[in-house]
Amino acid sequence: MLKIGHRGARGYEPENTLLSFQKALDLGVDGIELDVHLSADGVLVVIHDETVDRTTDGKGLVADLTLEQLQHFRTNKNQIIPNLKEVLDLVNRRCFVNIELKGKGTTKPAVEMIQDYITNKNWSYSDFIVSSFGWEMLSETAELNPKIPIAVLTETTIEDALAFAKKIKAKAINPDFQLLKTDTTSKLQKAGFQVFPWTVNEVEDIKTIQNYGVDGIISDFPDRIQ
Ligand code: G3P
Ligand code: CA
Repeated sequence: MLKIGHRGARGYEPENTLLSFQKALDLGVDGIELDVHLSADGVLVVIHDETVDRTTDGKGLVADLTLEQLQHFRTNKNQIIPNLKEVLDLVNRRCFVNIELKGKGTTKPAVEMIQDYITNKNWSYSDFIVSSFGWEMLSETAELNPKIPIAVLTETTIEDALAFAKKIKAKAINPDFQLLKTDTTSKLQKAGFQVFPWTVNEVEDIKTIQNYGVDGIISDFPDRIQ
């Protein structure tokens, strides 16, 4: 049962910051999940929302701001918005990295960065997984490089996610955990996919989901996954 830290270890530190990713590593995660958008000058930055308003002391759309402008803002605990490279260098292959493509235009630069880390920095394809609710970005990922492991995110329908995962030869299906019923996980696994539900935070829910035999759990509190 893989432990995957959601936005790092969001239950303990400000989400999607180096502090949060370090905390997840300290808690012994197998993987971290993070969200990426593109800055105005084309850099992949790690932030969940389209704007900086909720998580930092700044205001504005990420896509309208350069990396330099974005990194002037501060989150709680005085952290910056990291770029993806900074996070990968912190992780340094100590766990796998689930890159969730959020923002428009993130697919190509993310694929290129993954390829660069594999070719030049001794990372492996198994150190990465690319996911998205924007399934067209997953098709594009598969077209650009079919070796990159892909997880199909869904918050609405397992059936459609399964059909799409087959189509693009994904590795995993990552559903909202509330979509899972007793027999869903084994059905998806028999079809050849791993199952990584999110965001499972309450101990009771973690137990229920573990009993379904999922391959891993994405949680703000990854240390609660035994
Ligand atoms: O990748 C799973 C989960 O992070 C998807 O939802 O809104 O937390 O990015 P969200
Ligand atoms: Ca996410």
